[in-house]
Amino acid sequence: MRSTTAFALLAICSIGALAQDAASIADGTVRFIASDAKRTEIVPSMALQRPFPSLGRAPADFPVVPEFFETDDDKEAFRIAIDPGTSLYGTGEVAGPLLRNGRVIETWNLDAYGYGEDATNLYKSHPWVLAVREDGTAFGVLADTTYRVRIDLTTDIEMVSDGPDFPVIVIDGDSPQQVLRRLATLVGTIEMPPEWALGYHQCRYSYYPDSRVREIADGFREHEIPCDVIWMDIDYMDEFRVFTFDPEGFPHPARTNDYLHANGFHSIWMIDPGVRLDPGYSIYDAGEAIDAWVRNAAGETYVGEVWPGECVFPDYTNAAVREWWAKLYAPFMALGVDGVWNDMNEPAVFNVESKTMPEDNLHRADEALGGPGPHARFHNVYGMLMVQATREGIMAANPDKRPFVLSRAGYIGSHRYAATWSGDNTADWAHLEMSTPMVLNMGLSGHPFTGPDIGGFVGNGTPEMFARWMGIGALYPFCRGHTGKGNIDKEPWAFGEDVGATCRAALERRYRLLPYIYTLFREASQTGMPVVRPLFFHDPADPALRSEDGVYLLGADLMVVTQPTPLRDREHAMPKDFATGGWRAFNLGDNEDPDLPRLFQRAGSIIAVGPVVQHTGEDTRKPMELRVALDADGVAGGVLYEDAGDGWGYREGEYRSSLFAAWREGDEVRVRVVSTLGDYDPGPRRYTIRVLHSDGRETTAQGDPFIGMSRGITVPTGATR
Ligand code: GLC
Repeated sequence: MRSTTAFALLAICSIGALAQDAASIADGTVRFIASDAKRTEIVPSMALQRPFPSLGRAPADFPVVPEFFETDDDKEAFRIAIDPGTSLYGTGEVAGPLLRNGRVIETWNLDAYGYGEDATNLYKSHPWVLAVREDGTAFGVLADTTYRVRIDLTTDIEMVSDGPDFPVIVIDGDSPQQVLRRLATLVGTIEMPPEWALGYHQCRYSYYPDSRVREIADGFREHEIPCDVIWMDIDYMDEFRVFTFDPEGFPHPARTNDYLHANGFHSIWMIDPGVRLDPGYSIYDAGEAIDAWVRNAAGETYVGEVWPGECVFPDYTNAAVREWWAKLYAPFMALGVDGVWNDMNEPAVFNVESKTMPEDNLHRADEALGGPGPHARFHNVYGMLMVQATREGIMAANPDKRPFVLSRAGYIGSHRYAATWSGDNTADWAHLEMSTPMVLNMGLSGHPFTGPDIGGFVGNGTPEMFARWMGIGALYPFCRGHTGKGNIDKEPWAFGEDVGATCRAALERRYRLLPYIYTLFREASQTGMPVVRPLFFHDPADPALRSEDGVYLLGADLMVVTQPTPLRDREHAMPKDFATGGWRAFNLGDNEDPDLPRLFQRAGSIIAVGPVVQHTGEDTRKPMELRVALDADGVAGGVLYEDAGDGWGYREGEYRSSLFAAWREGDEVRVRVVSTLGDYDPGPRRYTIRVLHSDGRETTAQGDPFIGMSRGITVPTGATR
């Protein structure tokens, strides 16, 4: 029996502690409720993708048991003791390092412009902690409440909520990976995004007018720097009225979109929740007509200030309002808009100390969401419900396309509806350094599709830092450069030729790795496994890796060694097998650039690499390289997932998931497709097999491993490059 259990049993008997009911709800997953909880106050979960009814009593030997208690000021709380050597992660979007032991944060979505390392709460709320025990086994803890939660990890795991009694869900697992897969069973996974959304995105606040948008698009093609998406920030709107266009700057949005499409770009346009209080403005009038707005405690329409001045706020907790909101996207998307950016949805309100609406505002929520209630209950899910409606709207408008929505606010589970970024970071080294642990902890909290504003939003930064940031950011799941109003230009070429060359190399890397990254997104969409993973995933029992966040894993097979500080040679913890040939230098021909992270391929893996393209739509029959890194036994394996890159055909079997194997046979290496799933045929293409040998040599052969699959391809081991 683990000491946590012993502690909990003791605690249950101790004065003041409350006993609990415990029910199994999924494999290795138990839901605890304080036994004297006021059950009528427990509302349906907003985190879980569906109700998880009890499957029966929890196993008597379940190793993690929360101790429920009430704080001195009568708040509902629980504590889980941790054993020495336990490392804590998760808690969603948090500033600071990867390892969360000793930290205190709060779940309360906040417009956190220019936040610092000591911020207690940012834009999203994930009342979830992943605990990795000394031996590499793990458990996770979810406080299943939308109310504000204080998560105190100073000594143990303690969470205190502002709201009524709430269930605590504990997942136990053999490894952190298993806990995350089990979390995904509960909170769901992302849907496969369109392939173009995995390319590079260029944004600024704001490209204005539309001729500037065209200039930026042309700039990418002229400089031959790959890019898939150009973003339209709020200045495209007519005085910030959502779903309108500035008659001077953006008189013909459809033409702007046509231009972008003709040049291989997609477009993403911003929509905020605040609707300008403006009788005569069609969206305001339509919302008025259905009584769509959040109310104040007196039952009147709540009015708060945002970009357009006085605004009213759709009450997305109400199904009729969500339906109305969703329908607004039909004419908008018909202009050729490809994706939607929902910002300020914490919701942000200007000129009030709280930066949001009063907690006693009233929401007329659906019964399925627990019925009407105060903003205190719905604050953290306001953004999630908004993007749920947005996603439904753009899917209804373009039923044959995969939707793309970016949301600033979020709650655990919001990955089901939208990708996200880490808000208004600052253009300094500290924020560059924090960006990897932020992406990692979001992945460890169920959200794999994230990334920061590359280059930093607040302020200018330096050319050197920008180059380094692009090098690191190019391998994040969501990859977008963005900057705030009044800052210098921050397109990849804006800092001169040297920085431009680094940015080009960084983004060419990303595009060459897209077959692998796309495969990782498929895995994330099926199992919840993050795209970008902490180094300790390679060896969860190695204590040396637990706090390393300057090195991360892209999937299981690629190690990314970054230099996120002004130094170029900061030491990192490396996995034990690094010294014994467990990793091979992975060279795309760009390894000489000191501003790019160094890459290493796991021995025993096969990674598919594509050609340099300027955007994902460039060539549907791209040549493919299979990079084979044999392990000490001379074998390797890997998976490549492919589909049409958009649309829903993959759900009907229009995909191809190929399992490759390679093994040494005498003085040859044989590479073969072991199996394929699905009916998708990408058409004929040229394959190069490149074998990375343990002594650093590379040998290659050409041939299509899918033709005469059983024969495979033979690569000589003798010939040097
Ligand atoms: C918010 C967003 C930022 C955007 C700006 C203007 O600050 O976080 O990304 O550029 O609003 O819309």
